[in-house]
Amino acid sequence: MNTKQNAIGIFDSGLGGLTAVREILEIMPHEDIVYFGDTGRVPYGSKSTDAINKYARQDARFLKKMGVKMIVAACGTVSSVAPDLSEELGLPYTGVVYPTCYTAVRTTKNGRIGVIGTAATIASHSYKKRIQAKHPEIEVYEEHCQLFVGFVENGLVDPDDELVQLMVKRYMAPLKENNVDTLILGCTHFPLLAEAIQREMGNGVTLIDSGKETAVYTKKVLEERGLLRDGNEQGKAQFFVSDTPADFERYAGLFLRDDLDITAAHINIEEY
Ligand code: DGL
Repeated sequence: MNTKQNAIGIFDSGLGGLTAVREILEIMPHEDIVYFGDTGRVPYGSKSTDAINKYARQDARFLKKMGVKMIVAACGTVSSVAPDLSEELGLPYTGVVYPTCYTAVRTTKNGRIGVIGTAATIASHSYKKRIQAKHPEIEVYEEHCQLFVGFVENGLVDPDDELVQLMVKRYMAPLKENNVDTLILGCTHFPLLAEAIQREMGNGVTLIDSGKETAVYTKKVLEERGLLRDGNEQGKAQFFVSDTPADFERYAGLFLRDDLDITAAHINIEEY
């Protein structure tokens, strides 16, 4: 039975979805969370559509088995490539593309939006199509930044690090040239590089964090369906990964509050 006291299930290829977890804990502190990071198969963004579809289903099935009340694909790649799984799962389900585009079109003043994401996300043109379906007058400039994922998964996010600066400069150049005033961080790993990106793009550009926007939308869906948890006690978070928990635990702290227990358990995702 789907009840309001059940946890929210969130998944990503690795650490990136924790940007959504951070915001969910912030705006819905009483909710329990079950997080799955598919660290054994990260990155998703350079994989085929078939592989991404298979991974999305397995990840969601695992979370369903954990008895969650809603599933959040906190992954730009899954949200761009895999179908909406709500009917298949019989559960409320959201990805990150819709909530992120919603905010981006309300933010731009000059009608020029940049999108950065993984290779698969950019090849799908998911953000561009979603924006231009309703706002054909908005120019959308896309740039794939697959390399960013490896940096984040290895904790390389310091905006003062020369390597980080060089990489960001290289990938931001075409977007700067196109004079975007709004930049969608279309991969949930990228908010960890937000400071480096903001420095490179300048303060005139507003960054839209896909993890954050998805958290806000998740709250809205739960509210509308009467599924927000009752009670005032602090929610609990459980973490599961498909590779060594130690690697996940080492860097998860970069994304989350210091006081949170980020002990992770290993599961065999191929069983789902
Ligand atoms: N964080 C994911 C995304 O939002 C996946 C990155 C990857 O595994 O390539 O696209």
